[in-house]
Amino acid sequence: MSLYVCGDTHGDYDIYKLTSKRFNSKALTKNDYVLICGDCAAVWDMDSHDAYIQKWFNSKNWTTLYIDGNHENHEALDELPVVEWNGGKVHMISDSIIHLMRGQVYTIDGHKIFTMGGAESHDKEYRIEGMTWWDREMPSEEEYAEALSNLKKNDNEVEYIFTHCASDNTQDRISEHFSHDKLTNFFRCIDEDVKFNHWYCGHYHVDQDVDEKHTVLYDKVIKLW
Ligand SMILES: [Fe+2]
Repeated sequence: MSLYVCGDTHGDYDIYKLTSKRFNSKALTKNDYVLICGDCAAVWDMDSHDAYIQKWFNSKNWTTLYIDGNHENHEALDELPVVEWNGGKVHMISDSIIHLMRGQVYTIDGHKIFTMGGAESHDKEYRIEGMTWWDREMPSEEEYAEALSNLKKNDNEVEYIFTHCASDNTQDRISEHFSHDKLTNFFRCIDEDVKFNHWYCGHYHVDQDVDEKHTVLYDKVIKLW
């Protein structure tokens, strides 16, 4: 069993990195995972877009995991039934598309991971609330509290952290054009208080090893195990 991680796919717009031309998945099975660090948009218009993109992922010989970014239909995700999977809460979009929810700790193939999606959009003024933008893009108080509680239950130690945006300090090293917000502040505390081997995020549309413990992904698909 293996797990690969990559950055935003934005429906079919940035899916090219997972096409057979770019990503050799011949040896994979549905027991292998590809984890998208947010802005997957597998649930977006609840119509033909979703049917197309879900069919695309379902047809692949791997299981797709994703955390939510800012560009997701958060309202529709919130309506889905919540089920338990590998120790944390998920939304099963299909048998092989799984939305990893905010503030969860999972044990996958013996690897402990923490996930926390969400991010603040920087293009809100060009979007329509309820159609192309949702204020649930940022976590609720309950989700922040649940994250802290689940981490505490695991002695504040995991192997990997997957988020969409980065912590204040990591973000500042990626680009000076993004402002701090409640979630990037929260991630700064997580960065300081939680023991982890590596943190992967998306959102910034660059590939960069920020330092030995923090990587931002966009184009690259990396094998973790
Ligand atoms: Fe994003």
